[in-house]
Parts: sequence; C-alpha cells; structure tokens
Amino acid sequence: MNNPHLYNSAHGLQQKDVEQVLSDYLDKMNWKPGSRIMDIGCGPGYITSKMLMPRLPQDFETLLAVDLSHDMIQYAKNTYIHPKLNFMQLDIETENINNDLCSPGFDKIFSFFCLHFVVDQRRAFNNISRLLRPGGEVLVLLVTTCSLFDVYSLQSKKSKWSQYLKDVQKYTSPFHTLSDAKEEFKRITKDANLSLLKCELKPNRHNYPSFAILQDSLQAINPFISNVPDELHDEFMKDVISEAEKIEKEGKNNNGKYSFSYEILVAHLRKS
Ligand SMILES: C[S@@+](CC[C@H](N)C(=O)[O-])C[C@H]1O[C@@H](n2cnc3c(N)ncnc32)[C@H](O)[C@@H]1O
Repeated sequence: MNNPHLYNSAHGLQQKDVEQVLSDYLDKMNWKPGSRIMDIGCGPGYITSKMLMPRLPQDFETLLAVDLSHDMIQYAKNTYIHPKLNFMQLDIETENINNDLCSPGFDKIFSFFCLHFVVDQRRAFNNISRLLRPGGEVLVLLVTTCSLFDVYSLQSKKSKWSQYLKDVQKYTSPFHTLSDAKEEFKRITKDANLSLLKCELKPNRHNYPSFAILQDSLQAINPFISNVPDELHDEFMKDVISEAEKIEKEGKNNNGKYSFSYEILVAHLRKS
C-alpha cells in the first residue's frame, strides 16, 4: 500500500466509486467562496488532483491533501503541482493533532478509501471534528466488508505467510464483522459532535478485465506485501486471489472476467 506507481496504475475500482460519490454529493454541500478543503488518505494524489479538485467550486482558497505514507506524499508532491494544492504527511489517528491545522481549520473534509484502515475510529473522528470549522462538512467513503479481510485472516494462520501478517487486525476494517455498521458509525460520529446528514451502505461488485489487472489492483492495496520478500510476491498474491475466489465462489464470471464484491459506507456529515 506504499507503492504510488502501482496504485496509480491499478485503481479503477476506487476511481469508479469516487466519481459516483462526487456526482451524488458535491452539489448537496453548502459552498462558500474561499473554502479551505482537506482530503484525508490521499494516497498518490491522483484522485485529489484529477477528480476532486476540478469538480470543486474554483473560488476555493486551499486544498490540503494528507496521508500517513511518506512515499505517497513524496510522489504526490512531485507529480501534482498546483498553486492551491498542498500535500502533507499526517496520521489522522494521531493523539496530538497539530493545532496549526485546527486553527484556522477546514470548511470541507473528504476521505476516500482510507478510514477503514484506522483502528481507533473515535480518535480519528474526534480529530476530523477538531479540524473542521463550525458548520464544516465531511464526505466519507470507507470499506465496511470485503472478502479480502477474511483472506488476510486466513493467510495469517498459514505457516508460510503468518510471519508477514502479524498486524492483521490493524488492516481489517473495524466495521467488517459488525452486524450493524451504520449504527456504530452513527454512534462514533455523534460522539465526535458530527451530525449525520446522510449515510448509505452500498453493496458493490467490480469487474477486472484480466487476471493481471486483478493481481495488480489487489497488490496495490495489500498492506502486507512490503513485508514479503520480493521473490515470493507472485506466489503470495496468487494465494490472496485463490482464497478470495474460494470465499466469493462466483468470483469468475462466464466471460472469463474476474469480479470482486465489497460493501462501502458513504456518509455526509456536518459539525454541529
Ligand atoms: C487505498 S488508499 C486511497 C487513496 C485515495 N484516497 C483513493 O481513493 O484512491 C488508502 C490511503 O490511506 C492512507 N492511510 C491509511 N491510514 C491512514 C491514517 N491513519 N492517516 C492518514 N492516511 C492513512 C494510506 O497510506 C493510503 O495511501
């Protein structure tokens, strides 16, 4: 999950879902001139600069994109250059959120395909709430359930792979095993002083045109691959796909295409 080149070449699923969410929600947000905007978990920065930024009202003041990964931020800084766009390394789960960011704060915070990697959801949403100005809005897209999380758990029990997946819980969505992910999300965000304007759970399926593209896409988001020696990467990823197919059963459709099911939570919130 630290390889910006691979992620940028294999993020069709993320592009498709972010496109849909932006077209569903951007015009429901309350826009004022001079908005300060943040994107949390921006990865290599493509979605921030090529999909989010062009769709914003162009009188915004600044767009700050942040990510935990140093490699992702370096790549984004070197690749996507614009006078109103900045990139910065930040862990949204931090215990000490930078006061210089909280004041003056942000009018809009976006986060796509990131917050399911956060173990302490309460701390992350408290930080998001602190980063927002009063009346500020949040648009979040996170993964609730996905067979990959079960695959990681299975692999962590296999003697060949267990040494590489020691922190498997950290990379499993905290919503994956919950019977009511929406209720838990409502509780967490309410306690962070955020009012839920809309929250949807969307079951989804993505078709990959070839095995190679499926493998690249799953490798690009695999949190453990950097622990695995290079010479075992191929075998490791083939095992991921084979276990995912067993779980999904109908994963391979009649056209020889590969498909993959998952569920996302999309939420629009406002700071009270
Ligand atoms: C799957 S990528 C999503 C990138 C981009 N938003 C997109 O939709 O294509 C997830 C990103 O979240 C980042 N991330 C994970 N945990 C984070 C945290 N605690 N704080 C900030 N970023 C985090 C990862 O480093 C990774 O770059």
